Amino acid sequence: MKRAEEQNRTEKIVALAKRRGFVFQGSEIYGGLSGTWDYGPLGVLLKRNIMQSWWKRFVEMRDDMYGLDAAIMMNPRVWEASGHVEGFADPLVECKKCRMGFRADELENNTRCPECEGQLSIKRQFHVMFRTHIGASADETAAVYLRPETAQGIFVNFKNIIDAFHPKLPFGIAQMGKAFRNEISPRDFLFRSREFEQMEVEYFVRPEEWERHFDEWRKTIWDWLTKDLGLKKNHVDDPDVPEADRAHYSKRTIDFAFDYPFGRKELCGLAYRTDYDLSRHAQYSGADLSYYDEESGKRFVPHVIEPSLGVERVVFALLADAYAEEEAEEETRTVLRLRPLLAPVKAAVFPLLKNKPELVARARTIYAKLKMQIPDIMWDDNGNIGKRYRRQDEIGTPFCVTVDFDTLKDHTVTVRDRDTMQQERIEENALAGWISSQLSLGLDRG
Ligand code: GAP
Repeated sequence: MKRAEEQNRTEKIVALAKRRGFVFQGSEIYGGLSGTWDYGPLGVLLKRNIMQSWWKRFVEMRDDMYGLDAAIMMNPRVWEASGHVEGFADPLVECKKCRMGFRADELENNTRCPECEGQLSIKRQFHVMFRTHIGASADETAAVYLRPETAQGIFVNFKNIIDAFHPKLPFGIAQMGKAFRNEISPRDFLFRSREFEQMEVEYFVRPEEWERHFDEWRKTIWDWLTKDLGLKKNHVDDPDVPEADRAHYSKRTIDFAFDYPFGRKELCGLAYRTDYDLSRHAQYSGADLSYYDEESGKRFVPHVIEPSLGVERVVFALLADAYAEEEAEEETRTVLRLRPLLAPVKAAVFPLLKNKPELVARARTIYAKLKMQIPDIMWDDNGNIGKRYRRQDEIGTPFCVTVDFDTLKDHTVTVRDRDTMQQERIEENALAGWISSQLSLGLDRG
């Protein structure tokens, strides 16, 4: 795709996200705050559906996983032990003319500013962790960091989980929660944010078994991306990351890359973190973080496989993959072909005409009943039916239910499918069951 087309597609997705209440620029009425995004009503639902889907596949469907929700602020020694205080920095260059900062490793030309052609400064390391102070004192001893990854909350609770649950290896601890990075140049919509949500697993294994588990997690991630989320297979790739580009703790990393409108970029990662983190925390805290393996009769520090993912990148990938424009009935129809299970609104209910009280009353009753059985049902009676279909297509609603004069006679409604635009009559009383079955069928569509 050419640069202008790429730009155009991103702009269309950002515009749709704002127009229809998925995602807004953070603090927009004050001119925004770079690298922050606010989720509107539909974005909240989409994000929740993604997170629920992840939790289901990575935690609920397994019997070797433990959930966790650790504090965002942690003892600053955690970040010394993890290596972040020393090494979590990006190479920064600044333009001497327009003062903009750039990541040197992402520039083609390290001497001229890509915005104004001004001269760039010499490269220096810029620390990416946000720092603040805890309590009334603002001196060095009160400094704390906003976590740049949820992973460390898991490592520092490793002993608590062992003591409380006595799990057998291999087992994992999963956590979803906010992470913060003072990115030099946040950009590409949600892709590089300063505040984002991570979903991470630290999976503890016997050292000699790491490769097998690494391969298994690779498959799990692939299946989640392409089956549960339904990202198109030819838009996803999983290359190995060369040693020079790997994080300090990793002996092997795979980046799952997705074809964003601006190019193929990292969507999520899988890393073999060895015993780096547990050993460092044992050393810095003095706690015994070893594990007694009854099977081999040996005591050792487990090794770790880490699937790690940012929700914002998934939201963007889903919007980009699902967004389509097509000619229909002599106009351009914009449609979000999200998997029905992930769609923020599962079905919209309309009365055929809003000035016919008997239709409106019946539609209201059907809507209320449906909403009790399936969450995320929307009422819509604005404009004509064609306009309502277009509005629902644009937000990815898989089914539109119209209550018409036949409903008053034979208790059936018209259900229109977002993707095929075909309509069928369904018994009013069978509607909830029919939609539910379509939602689970939706796991195998596309
Ligand atoms: N615990 C390992 C870790 O944090 P990472 O590759 O730095 O590894 C993991 O980040 C994932 O978090 C990435 O694959 C991406 O999905 C997401 N992520 C990282 N930085 C991000 C940012 N600035 N904005 C949005 N998502 C980000």
